[in-house]
Amino acid sequence: MKKIVITGGAGFIGSHVVRLFVKKYPEYQIFNLDALTYAGNLENITDIENEPNYTFVKGDIVDAAFIDALFAEHQFDGVLHLAAESHVDRSITDPLSFVKTNVIGTMNLLNAAKTIWKDDMEGKRFYHISTDEVYGSLGAEGLFTETTAYDPNSPYSASKASSDHFVRAYGETYGLPYVLTNCSNNYGPFHFPEKLIPLFINNIIQNKPLPVYGNGKYTRDWLFVEDHAVAIDLVFHEGVNHDTYNIGGFNEWQNIDLVKLLCKIMDEKLGREAGTSEQLISYVKDRPGHDLRYAIDANKINKELGWKPSVTFEEGLEKTVNWYLDNQTWLNNITSGEYATYYEKQYAN
Ligand code: NAD
Ligand code: DAU
Repeated sequence: MKKIVITGGAGFIGSHVVRLFVKKYPEYQIFNLDALTYAGNLENITDIENEPNYTFVKGDIVDAAFIDALFAEHQFDGVLHLAAESHVDRSITDPLSFVKTNVIGTMNLLNAAKTIWKDDMEGKRFYHISTDEVYGSLGAEGLFTETTAYDPNSPYSASKASSDHFVRAYGETYGLPYVLTNCSNNYGPFHFPEKLIPLFINNIIQNKPLPVYGNGKYTRDWLFVEDHAVAIDLVFHEGVNHDTYNIGGFNEWQNIDLVKLLCKIMDEKLGREAGTSEQLISYVKDRPGHDLRYAIDANKINKELGWKPSVTFEEGLEKTVNWYLDNQTWLNNITSGEYATYYEKQYAN
């Protein structure tokens, strides 16, 4: 049986990847390794928690001795590495924790994999799930390709760029078998309500202000999270060793247009008069170093591996809104805890 460890499997994207792998590959033993930080939530994966091919391990990837012991014990064949500090705003107030988890944590996993695979790399694979933010910001034109130079602007993207470089370096220096993907903005069920779409859904439900940073004319390329999980499955199994793939939604939206669409859908779903939620829009102080535009050229993964998004943005957003409206206990369990305090501090002024 193949033993696979997925890090960050209690988070947003990781929970979708764990679910897909546990259901699709009963012949694999899937280990979900997660520290359960503020962003980790076992409620994201209750539907598969009792499956015989699934094991949850609570642990911190920054703890090298713990990671070495875990890898020595289980002799994993594959690593899908998603655990990270993932929120740009938090990286501005606490950059060091991003270096610890995203850089040192990744190093610890690389070292542990190198050690257990040193005598036989055949059939082994280290997959680093990364972000398009490593490329920095686009102007009005152009797309990020796999050969775009790294130019990260936030402490978050600098830490992810650094970990990408270490993954490549371990491939070149030690022959570690790896694949790497850089993906655009995900959205969908189980998205932590500090990020734009789930935060605004929650605020609309609660009639709270919608804090649009700056003039709202920043652009992101949105991808439904289940489509990202399918791409990850494909790259893990069929991606070329030592190669990198960009993943994106072919779906650019300026923030303000996205927010207005979301307000329209929410008014319909909540039975509110058209235009009600838009009145909650509040332009606030901009994010420092705010990247103007991200947009991915996903033609390589499309041509080489046959992947493309399966849902339109309108379909994906409607599914997402329906999920949040049907799962308000999940939302309340999060927003009544530590996150509520962070939110109050973040938007105090
Ligand atoms: P998330 O914040 O929702 O989840 C991160 C998970 O990692 C949580 O379960 C958390 O408990 C765990 N974790 C954090 N620090 C840890 C540590 N030290 N040890 C063990 N576990 C730890 O993040 P996400 O949005 O699901 O992102 C997952 C990955 O995908 C990240 O690497 C991120 O950089 C990347 N990514 C995210 C997006 C996006 O739009 N969300 C897009 C592209 C790439
Ligand atoms: O591009 C991939 C990246 O997408 C991932 O690597 C990150 O982990 C993920 O968090 C996301 O980063 P962004 O910074 O783009 O996502 P966020 O949801 O925080 O913000 C999306 C846009 O909305 C961005 O231009 C900032 C803006 N924004 C965000 C928040 C939270 C607002 O205007 N108001 C807000 O309250």
